[in-house]
Amino acid sequence: MKKYGFQTKALHAGLSEKEYKSLIFPIYQSVAYPYETSEDAALIHSFQKEGQTYGRMDNPTLEIFEKRLAVLEEGEACIGTSSGMSAIYMIAVYFARNGGEIVSSNRIYGGTYVLFSKVLPELGIKVHLVKDIHNIDEWESKINQNTKFLFIETPSNPSIDILDIKRFSDLAHSHNVSLIVDNTIATPALQIPIKFGADVIVHSATKYICGNSTSLAGAVIGRKEDIKKMREEIYEITGPTLSPFNAWLLLIGLETLYIRMQKHSENARIVAEFLENHPKVDSVSYPFLKGHPQFDTAKKQMSGGSSLISFNVKGSLEDAYKFIDSVNLIKRVGHLGDSKTLITHPRTVTHQSLTDEERKDANVADNSIRISVGLEDVNDLIEDIEQALGKV
Ligand SMILES: Cc1ncc(COP(=O)(O)O)c(C=O)c1O
Repeated sequence: MKKYGFQTKALHAGLSEKEYKSLIFPIYQSVAYPYETSEDAALIHSFQKEGQTYGRMDNPTLEIFEKRLAVLEEGEACIGTSSGMSAIYMIAVYFARNGGEIVSSNRIYGGTYVLFSKVLPELGIKVHLVKDIHNIDEWESKINQNTKFLFIETPSNPSIDILDIKRFSDLAHSHNVSLIVDNTIATPALQIPIKFGADVIVHSATKYICGNSTSLAGAVIGRKEDIKKMREEIYEITGPTLSPFNAWLLLIGLETLYIRMQKHSENARIVAEFLENHPKVDSVSYPFLKGHPQFDTAKKQMSGGSSLISFNVKGSLEDAYKFIDSVNLIKRVGHLGDSKTLITHPRTVTHQSLTDEERKDANVADNSIRISVGLEDVNDLIEDIEQALGKV
């Protein structure tokens, strides 16, 4: 598949029409598959022969999704999971069990932050969170002989910080640890972290990969050996398996991912420029705005800015609420990556369980707003945002 372009691979990778005798991949809504003979069953279950075993372990529809996403991320193999969080949890347990430690930052998705700051430490996995995400020396100072991986999210949700993947992979590898990148916001259509040295990629496929909010899903992409061991040692026993129907919906999502990400990026840049010039708005964060502090890094590793914009309306929490409650077309939800434009108040939704200090470190203020710009006609979006700002 390597010789084809991204969009061709998104439509064809992982699918053999000969095998499935169908133009669209079938949904195998089954948890078990009769074996020809007892000997066959024994060989398949001992991995000496290819074949399906049981729905917690594998499924033919899921397998097509996994093969296709691995190709798009330029990784060797992929595991599809029931959610982005189950994917991150599985990675942490796989790499850091038995006394391993993790280094990450506080500028990450709220759920991942709670996993790292509360859940994993309670299970005995130590996580060091750097306070100044852009201070690479602080990252390095947290690495010790027990460290198993650095975990970064770029662009980060919701602060839209950009981290230099190459720099972080060089740092990780100089200490013999892995670099894990959450590529949810950019997706492989805009950024391929493995090209910059990342070892493992994780996704909330619930977002852009799905594209229309029908399925909760996640994925881990990495080296064959790691993915195989992760599957055998954790996944098959604990069962964070992606359902065949959701895998099928995600495959449909992947077919249009590239085109959607181009349009998301184009619309978001126009909306970000509008917000940047509006008198009731300050501190707009969007990677492809020239004023973004990591604009050069964004340009180096991303081919488009994706759809997330963070900004502060001038004023207080009440002003932010007033703005959010005044939009008509844009939907108020704690979600992102849909084809429709979505708006969230991170302080009281995605990051509400954090303390005031943690929120300050995460760059989430009372008047911060996150918009996930959709695929609507951009003039309609600007009109909606302009009239809502007029109410503040
Ligand atoms: C960057 C990022 N990673 C991971 C997750 C968790 O994914 P899920 O909701 O699919 O469990 C999210 C959810 O919003 C996210 O934004």
